[in-house]
Order: sequence, then C-alpha cells, then structure tokens
Amino acid sequence: MRRRGILLASAVLFCLVSSVASAQGKTQNNGAALFKTQCVMCHGATGKGDTQTGKTLDAVDFHDPEVMKMSDADLAKIIGKGKNMMPAFGKRLSTIDIDDLISYIHLLQKTK
Ligand code: HEC
Repeated sequence: MRRRGILLASAVLFCLVSSVASAQGKTQNNGAALFKTQCVMCHGATGKGDTQTGKTLDAVDFHDPEVMKMSDADLAKIIGKGKNMMPAFGKRLSTIDIDDLISYIHLLQKTK
C-alpha cells in the first residue's frame, strides 16, 4: 500500500515536471522561430545586430549594457511600438508572441 502511494506520488510529480518543462520549451521554440523569421535580418542570430541591414540601420547589440538594463516592459514597448528604424510589431504579433520574444532575447543576452 505504501509503495503504491510513493509510485502514485512520483507519477504525479513526473506529470507536473514534464508539463512545466513543455510549457517552457514551447515559449522558447516560439520565441526562437519568431526571432528567426521577423528579427534576424536586422538583429543577427546572436542578437548583436551584426548583419548588413543591422549595421546600416544601427541596430543595437542586445548585449549592450543599455539594453541589458531595460525592463521587460521597456522591451515590450519598443517591440510593439518601434523606435527610430526599428519597425513596430504590435499589430503583427500578439502579446504572447512578444513575451516569448523577450524571453528569447534574454536567452541571447546570456550567451555571448
Ligand atoms: C528592419 C530592421 C529591424 C527589424 C526587422 C527588427 N529590428 Fe529591432 N531594432 C532595429 C533597430 C535599428 C534598433 C535600434 C533602435 C534605436 O535604438 O535607435 C532596434 C532596437 C530593438 C530593441 C531595443 C534595443 C535598443 O536599441 O533600444 C529591441 C528589444 C528590438 N529591436 C527587438 C526586435 C525584435 C524582437 C524584432 C523582431 C520581432 C526586431 N527587433 C526586428 C531594427 C530592426
């Protein structure tokens, strides 16, 4: 009886852990996919803005201290409304998409 309880508890735990993991994976995949199709031409695969278009338009490196210290709300505002040569995406992307993109930007900021 006791063993069954432990088994049941670990099965429940496993389900919980895997559903959290898959939600995280989903966010990351969506952010990465959107970044690739909508942002990479200017910001580059690593977010450094080192593509030809990025250099021409003056896309800022996401690793720049100025960008690193921006809050998620600041980032969401720029992505939604645009800034100088940065186009506004508020009409094309949902707030969920923008949140996923922000998570992906943070991931890029953690990798050099
Ligand atoms: C046409 C080129 C272009 C595309 C496409 C583009 N950006 Fe930008 N982005 C820029 C430029 C240029 C800036 C710099 C704006 C400034 O500070 O003058 C910028 C700035 C930013 C910033 C703020 C950093 C800063 O410099 O203040 C974020 C965050 C950002 N972009 C995210 C994104 C995301 C996410 C996407 C895709 C949905 C995207 N951008 C697509 C050109 C682009």
